Amino acid sequence: MSLHSLSLVAVLGLALGACKPPETKPTTPGDTADTKAGGGDTTKPPHDASKPFHELDQDGKMARMTEVVMPKIGEMFRGYDATKYAGFDCGTCHVNHAQHPRDGLPKIKLSGGGYEALAKEKPELMAFMGQLAPAMAQVMGEPPFDPKTGQGFGCGGCHTVE
Ligand code: HEC
Ligand code: HEC
Repeated sequence: MSLHSLSLVAVLGLALGACKPPETKPTTPGDTADTKAGGGDTTKPPHDASKPFHELDQDGKMARMTEVVMPKIGEMFRGYDATKYAGFDCGTCHVNHAQHPRDGLPKIKLSGGGYEALAKEKPELMAFMGQLAPAMAQVMGEPPFDPKTGQGFGCGGCHTVE
């Protein structure tokens, strides 16, 4: 029992830690976690928040994920189910360390009545997913999915959709 509550505390601590604005992180010269990615460049600017995700370089993508996606989207997941997503982290979307979430998350069938069937089978989850997709589009700086053109960030931004 104590082991379980201990690990839950650790997980919550991590999750809350990830919500802190980056400025509150101690930046001592010995803080290797902050300097290793830039090849010793300690003056690396913060990622450009106005750029869409796909235009960012690898460091910028990491920064967008840790500084924006984790706190903002994490809050949504915990709001949906605080117990299940107490340990919300990269692996919630990047299942089994998949580089792209769609390679790890379940494939979903929306065409040919698939959407309606899912909405009937899992109404709460589908309502949540329906809010998650535009929120994720926003934090990624990508246009939301537009059913008229079939373009933009939607369910297919995280899942393989058929
Ligand atoms: C809410 C879901 C979600 C969470 C949580 C999340 N990611 Fe992502 N991540 C994505 C999606 C979706 C993409 C793919 C975007 C695209 O289509 O290019 C992505 C892409 C990436 C990429 C770029 C991959 C590439 O090669 O283009 C990196 C790097 C990455 N994530 C790292 C992380 C790290 C590190 C964390 C935890 C700090 C994290 N992600 C948390 C959804 C998430
Ligand atoms: C930001 C990434 C993201 C987006 C966008 C997204 N999902 Fe999800 N979805 C997830 C994650 C993460 C899970 C896994 C939840 C879990 O297992 O705890 C999931 C699970 C699901 C499941 C349950 C699958 C199963 O077999 O358990 C369905 C159905 C689903 N999503 C449908 C949708 C639909 C429909 C949309 C678009 C309206 C959508 N998702 C958009 C991340 C996303």
